[in-house]
Amino acid sequence: MAKPTIAGNRTGRKLGQRVKNKKMKASSRQWLQRHINDPYVQRAQLEGYRARAAFKLLEIDEKHNILKGARRIIDLGAAPGSWSQIAAKVTGSTDEDIRVAAIDFLEMDQLPGVKILQLDFLDPSAPAQLIEAVGGTPDVVISDMAAPTTGHHRTDHLRTMHLCEVAAHFAVQVLGEGGHFLAKTFQGGTERDLLNMLKRHFKQVVHVKPPSSRAESVEMFLLAKGFKGRQPEPDISEA
Ligand SMILES: C[S@@+](CC[C@H](N)C(=O)[O-])C[C@H]1O[C@@H](n2cnc3c(N)ncnc32)[C@H](O)[C@@H]1O
Repeated sequence: MAKPTIAGNRTGRKLGQRVKNKKMKASSRQWLQRHINDPYVQRAQLEGYRARAAFKLLEIDEKHNILKGARRIIDLGAAPGSWSQIAAKVTGSTDEDIRVAAIDFLEMDQLPGVKILQLDFLDPSAPAQLIEAVGGTPDVVISDMAAPTTGHHRTDHLRTMHLCEVAAHFAVQVLGEGGHFLAKTFQGGTERDLLNMLKRHFKQVVHVKPPSSRAESVEMFLLAKGFKGRQPEPDISEA
């Protein structure tokens, strides 16, 4: 089926609208202006997705085919829930037979077929709770986690990179053989040790930037495909 174009104006709202509220800070006005004129925001509203982020996952999947045939998916940093909406659809998850577990420390509206944990992923109890919630071995672990911004660029960057790293270690502990891991990272931000670890455990490791990820943003996604199955950790005493 042909995908609808995103350039059109099918919400009835014109693109190129200006925000004129003079009481607003200039940066907030610019954000709002960009948001309401963003064709992906409009398309998300039309297609019933909770966030424009949906298209990042859909575009990555279109190119790299990571969701087809997935039976169980864990979604890290899930709020407001557009990736979970996609995950529930591809796994055929229902409230009677849950196949998607989602975690976020923000409150998230319920979604059919998704077990939502309102919890910090860095909480030591999170991994076990996620596995229990998803009801079996996951095929795919997706993480769009971004640390809340402090305004200090370097701190924000390091915190999100830390989340990516913890998510990667979680993925290699829980994924079934042949499974995939996708996580938000930053251009040039992925540590060599993390890449090496993923390359040991997955057949293919690539960085991807889907078209819906804003060009001016340093956001990238790290995709590790084809989990080789659990392996003994290398014996560092022999190094
Ligand atoms: C870009 S948003 C995710 C959007 C989501 N993929 C969607 O499609 O709706 C990033 C989310 O990561 C969450 N997050 C950041 N750090 C987290 C943590 N330590 N534990 C759980 N969630 C976290 C934030 O609360 C935020 O909701």
